[in-house]
Amino acid sequence: MPSQPRTILVTSALPYANGPIHIGHLVEYIQTDIWVRFQRLRGQRCWYVCADDTHGTPIMLRAEQEGVTPEQLIARMHAEHARDFADFGVAFDNYYSTHSPENRALAESIYKRLRDAGHIARRTIQQAYDPVKRMFLPDRFIKGECPRCGAKDQYGDNCEACGATYAPTDLKHPVSVLSGAAPVEKASEHYFFKLGDFEDTLRKYLFPDITAARHVQAEVANKLDEWFVAGLKDWDISRDAPYFGFEIPDAPGKFFYVWLDAPIGYMASFQNLCAREHLDFDAFWGKNSTAELFHFIGKDILNFHALFWPALLEGAGYRKPTAIFVHGYLTVNGLKMSKSRGTFIAARTWLNHLDAEYLRYYFAAKLGPRLDDIDLNLDDFSARVNSNLVGKYVNIAARSASFIEKQFGGKLAAVCHRPELVKTLQSKSETIAGHYEQREYAEAVREIMALADEANAFVDEMKPWVLAKDPAQHELLHRVCTTNLNLFRLLTIYLKPVLPRLASEVEKFLNIPALAWADSGTLLTDHAIHPYHHLATRVDPKQVAALLAEAHENLTMTTPPSPPAPLPQGDGSNLISIDDFGKLDLRIARIIAASFVEGADKLLQLTVDLGEGRTRNIFAGIRSAYDPAQLEGRLTVVVANLAPRKMKFGVSEGMVLAAGPGGKELFILSPDAGAQPGMRVK
Ligand code: MSP
Ligand code: ZN
Repeated sequence: MPSQPRTILVTSALPYANGPIHIGHLVEYIQTDIWVRFQRLRGQRCWYVCADDTHGTPIMLRAEQEGVTPEQLIARMHAEHARDFADFGVAFDNYYSTHSPENRALAESIYKRLRDAGHIARRTIQQAYDPVKRMFLPDRFIKGECPRCGAKDQYGDNCEACGATYAPTDLKHPVSVLSGAAPVEKASEHYFFKLGDFEDTLRKYLFPDITAARHVQAEVANKLDEWFVAGLKDWDISRDAPYFGFEIPDAPGKFFYVWLDAPIGYMASFQNLCAREHLDFDAFWGKNSTAELFHFIGKDILNFHALFWPALLEGAGYRKPTAIFVHGYLTVNGLKMSKSRGTFIAARTWLNHLDAEYLRYYFAAKLGPRLDDIDLNLDDFSARVNSNLVGKYVNIAARSASFIEKQFGGKLAAVCHRPELVKTLQSKSETIAGHYEQREYAEAVREIMALADEANAFVDEMKPWVLAKDPAQHELLHRVCTTNLNLFRLLTIYLKPVLPRLASEVEKFLNIPALAWADSGTLLTDHAIHPYHHLATRVDPKQVAALLAEAHENLTMTTPPSPPAPLPQGDGSNLISIDDFGKLDLRIARIIAASFVEGADKLLQLTVDLGEGRTRNIFAGIRSAYDPAQLEGRLTVVVANLAPRKMKFGVSEGMVLAAGPGGKELFILSPDAGAQPGMRVK
């Protein structure tokens, strides 16, 4: 270990402020936090900053939808995010916001430096514009038919049905997701960052000589190569009003694109910390900085961090990152996280059912330094936590502590029984440290569990519970249990970056100050410990089931409203007259019975009362959204004069009105209190 501590600044990507933290995000924040905690245990000066990424169109629109200001929305999200992170033990030194005075000042000054050095270009471009909503439309706010296969309802620039890729302007019958109106082309002047000016810098940075230090993983460099082959293009860094963000200093009505000020948010969060901790900002970000700077990110945001960001830093006279560490994506039970599959698990949902440190442990056991996706398989999760974490590690303490307490007044012996075994565990300290340093957490955990196996073999061999029955073995029992607890203490040091809370419980139990990595060189003997309280319990399958049930439930609550279907255009062709409307006989009805229909997975059979005991039989396609029991007794609205339709299961004598795109998102209508069955709806 170097005698002079390293000075290190670490970041994780800034989560968007328009949604909750989910367990996919947590792969990254847990990976980073483990690394930061490891560095600190090794005595390095390591700072860890992050922030909410608060700007952009989706946040602006979501605030509008909720009827609050963007500032109110991001304040609420910030509090939620900060709480989720704290509860998962992610220990930022600063968790800030990109909507901060520091970030505005830094973004403006970086922009001005780039502009003054000639790295900003201006050009007028044509863009899709929503004439009703009066704003330019980002690609993902445009829907239409695939130009190749004609599939309806395709977003932006690729078809989910046939896989075609195209420009959003190629969509047939495009509509704005916001208003349903057909977008028009409109011209606007945009500001561009001339990425090509930094081609040499970037090439040296991403593809250094074999003798020089690497800044990105080899597979990352390979992926980025295609950008150079295609030629580095100018990057559009401006957006037109209305936009929630920072206005460009010399361009009223134009705002910095969220991805310009987001990475600058790393600097801003750190600057805010500097004021509090009296740190020297330039010593970290200045051209001559000797501090190390690391960004942890997911593979989806590679180009922003490994191309645009180093180029921006270079152009504005700052240092570049020491390294960018890229990780893969989380899948749940082998599937992409998705709301509709019920595999979207919010951080808070997890916390409602399972221990945060169990997820930390599981991710650590699966994480490596590469870009491979990692799968949370919930059976594997339970098995590993139960057999390794609880069964192998915690059990060592549980099997020895009570003897020390009851037979030796809570005091450890002066020596251990098998010093070679203790030495074996101590001798792995640097190997395991090397794994953490290289982000080979899975290797570290594997190594640690192999040591736990050795410790358990020792306990099994010595059988303290047998020794305890023989007064002649009193001394030996003391030394054996002391050994066990020392092995347990060493394993705790090695696991501490992953399990900070559990480690702190162990420190209390062992009656010792906070453990550091170097403490693996010493032993705990002749020392009074505290009574043992259970440190961890096994995962119960019921907890996992409850977690998944809640994730499923949330999906009806958290799915963003689907884009409205296009509204009638008012050109006369698709309007109806008041007489047409009068033909509809809409009635309040009470659902008096509801049941599943054998052989029909979409239908429920309803008996509705239209007043004065006039009942009707209706088959309604609402099974995916409702349980029969939820419906009985409810009032709703039915079309009472629909001609009876003969179906496979019987005759349907009306139709229940419901809104929504389908599936779980289907909502039957209810009248206000006071309405009675049979009343006409007009
Ligand atoms: N706001 C941007 C980052 C700006 S950094 C200057 C963003 N936000 S995000 O909320 O979408 O993602 C935050 C981080 O979480 C990203 O690094 C992203 O790769 C990571 N993950 C989001 N979903 C993930 C999984 N399902 N699995 C693993 N990581 C994931 O991108
Ligand atoms: Zn298609």
